[in-house]
Amino acid sequence: MRGVLPTYSMAVCAAKGSPNLSRRCSESSEKTWTACDILDRHSWRPVINLHRQDAQRFVRYLNTVCRTIFIPRGRTKELINENGYHAPMISKRARSIKPSGIREMFEMATKDSINLGLGELDFEPPQEITNALKKAAEQGRNRYGPTKGIDELRQAVASRVSRYRGDLGMENVVITASGTQGTIAAYQTLFDPGDEVLIPEPGFVLYEPNCMLAGARAVPYGLTEGSFMPDVDEINSLITPRTRGLVVNSPSNPTGGVLDRETFNALVDIAADNDLWVISDEVYENFLYDGGVHHSFNEHIERAVVLNSFSKSFAVPGWRIGYLTAPAELVDHIAKIQYHLVAAPPTPQQYALAEAFDAQESFLRKILPEFDRRRRAIVRLLNEIEGFHCPLPRGAFYAFPRYDLPISSRELATRLVRAGVIVAPGTAFGERGEHHLRFSYAASEENIVRGLEMVKKVVEELEH
Ligand SMILES: Cc1ncc(COP(=O)(O)O)c(C=O)c1O
Repeated sequence: MRGVLPTYSMAVCAAKGSPNLSRRCSESSEKTWTACDILDRHSWRPVINLHRQDAQRFVRYLNTVCRTIFIPRGRTKELINENGYHAPMISKRARSIKPSGIREMFEMATKDSINLGLGELDFEPPQEITNALKKAAEQGRNRYGPTKGIDELRQAVASRVSRYRGDLGMENVVITASGTQGTIAAYQTLFDPGDEVLIPEPGFVLYEPNCMLAGARAVPYGLTEGSFMPDVDEINSLITPRTRGLVVNSPSNPTGGVLDRETFNALVDIAADNDLWVISDEVYENFLYDGGVHHSFNEHIERAVVLNSFSKSFAVPGWRIGYLTAPAELVDHIAKIQYHLVAAPPTPQQYALAEAFDAQESFLRKILPEFDRRRRAIVRLLNEIEGFHCPLPRGAFYAFPRYDLPISSRELATRLVRAGVIVAPGTAFGERGEHHLRFSYAASEENIVRGLEMVKKVVEELEH
């Protein structure tokens, strides 16, 4: 057996066979243990090995007086790997969050790997906003700001979203320290332990852990084959009296799927009929192709929280700044949570974005045709690979091909990384992502071509 000893001195005391300790230990009648390793509670390193008869009694004693954790010999390493190095000191909540399946691939990559795994633009942000950021910092905009964000930026966002619904104003807007932070603030505000929240699968990596952090249960729903739209029938079948939320992501990461009007209306009806909150992740709203139209849940703000970000639309993922819209009454509650997460979103970035807000339109006009070319190129090349099937994505900047090969997506992605190209395994986005890979085409056409040659080669080797 192995035990975790609260203090080093207790181990020493035990090793020396302290009479006091021995007397107390002798009260234990446990006869089956034969040896014991005592581990330091913080480092998990063995401080003492007790290969002798009284180990069992000593362990028994510690177990009762110190609430020490004992685990069978030989399983220590495994448990440390599963649970993190400081397993005994870490909450169940933290331990139940799995490491990201995308990060895993990056950790195996070398600096020469071709990167088709990243969810960030390979363009520099417009000069107007970097100049404005410099100016904001130099002009002393470096203090804490209001928790909901500065009025100038909230107002700019309100005018932008009012194209979806005329009565949206600044009181509906919270500036967040990224879409990621907006997500946790929203989920913490809306959900209680025991609530059920419907999430897309495959779906973005934030949704399930955020349900869990709120104590809610994530209930995955599937997407339609090929067009990757929420499966309305399945959503209906999953609703129970405990269902409180419906998470929607259009355009979608990882699939590139875009909601059509009919499905959008069906989701609006489901939310209304079952009294659900819609948490709509619209961070890719500007990344649409073939004349596609974005249907925003801002239209139905009375039962929605709409999450958005500047990371993609201004190519500033490192600035960590985003926004959300919600009914005005909810905004105050979200702000209370946000205060305890970040106090306030970053100040200079907000002034920069407010000043150069209009630069976004021309920036997007410049980059979208390039993304469209890459989208067509990557899909053509993917479909040329034996066993790969890739529908043309209608939004975002990801292709999500299915493959018919007897290999898991994690294993295939691992082989690809070893061959020199980083992609994300489909299962990083949930079990239903199995036998898919996610390719980001936020990479030069040259890298897309070289990367796909590598994929083809690895797949051919698999087949022989
Ligand atoms: C669908 C989706 N939502 C939210 C985010 C979070 O964006 P950020 O935290 O950079 O604002 C991302 C980032 O990749 C995303 O893909």
